[in-house]
Amino acid sequence: PLVSTGELVTAARAGNRGIAAFNVITLEHAEAIATGAERAGASAILQISENAVKFHGGDPGAVTAAAAAVARASSAPLSLHLDHVESAALLKAAPGAGFSSVMFDASKLPYAENLAATAEAVRWGHDHGIWVEAELGAVGGKDGEPSLDAHTPGVRTDPAEAVVYVTETGVDALAVAVGSSHAMTRRTATLDHTLIAALRDAVPVPLVLHGSSGVPDEEIRRAVASGMVKINVGTALNTAFTGAVRAHLAAHPTTVDPRKYLVPAREAMAGTVADFLRVVGSATT
Ligand code: G3H
Ligand code: ZN
Repeated sequence: PLVSTGELVTAARAGNRGIAAFNVITLEHAEAIATGAERAGASAILQISENAVKFHGGDPGAVTAAAAAVARASSAPLSLHLDHVESAALLKAAPGAGFSSVMFDASKLPYAENLAATAEAVRWGHDHGIWVEAELGAVGGKDGEPSLDAHTPGVRTDPAEAVVYVTETGVDALAVAVGSSHAMTRRTATLDHTLIAALRDAVPVPLVLHGSSGVPDEEIRRAVASGMVKINVGTALNTAFTGAVRAHLAAHPTTVDPRKYLVPAREAMAGTVADFLRVVGSATT
């Protein structure tokens, strides 16, 4: 069924486990997330980024309606989250398109401007029943930036600053920079677990890990044990998808029907989804 992100995150936090959020680009991504969640007996978040909305023509309606239909038809509890929103217009389209939550991303702005823009987005979101996540400290690696930026200590989220930020913005969850970076295709990131625990103790809202595709299983387990709640995974699904397509086409150079390679690609993503759901502690089967 289609449920709300707020209830999934709240339940995960209360159960001292993580909740995984997977990025949807195509219909097959959404189907694979549902299959992986059903197989693991877990709930999950289907998230669609502003970039993915742009890929589908800029109107969040069509791709979101498809993901919502997949969620409604699934036996797994699934929610719809609008990810990395920078555009105010897209934020305002979220409730009408069927999202229960957004990640408003002002992380590229200087601190004071990030705080002011986020506070305004949260006010608007809460007035419209939307759960709002925001980011303090840049995770980095989006839009082709060098993805190693976030491994330098200077871009870590500062706990004292985080307390002020959460209080003044009123966000429902905080994405933090603790050593992960977006779009990594190898799982080599190491996280600052002392900082994660310090942030968990300092801020009253659940913490979000972005760029989890580059984080090894054991590091994710430790992060969840130290208080990380929402675990965002995008690139790992694309690695599985594209790897399966490449393998199929290499072995079958005359294939024309896309279903021939989309079936193994979707199955590869479903396997990746189930694996991450086990690692974050959501799996019951
Ligand atoms: O918001 C989305 C996530 O942070 C995904 O990051 O593609 O590096 O796993 P990733
Ligand atoms: Zn992210």
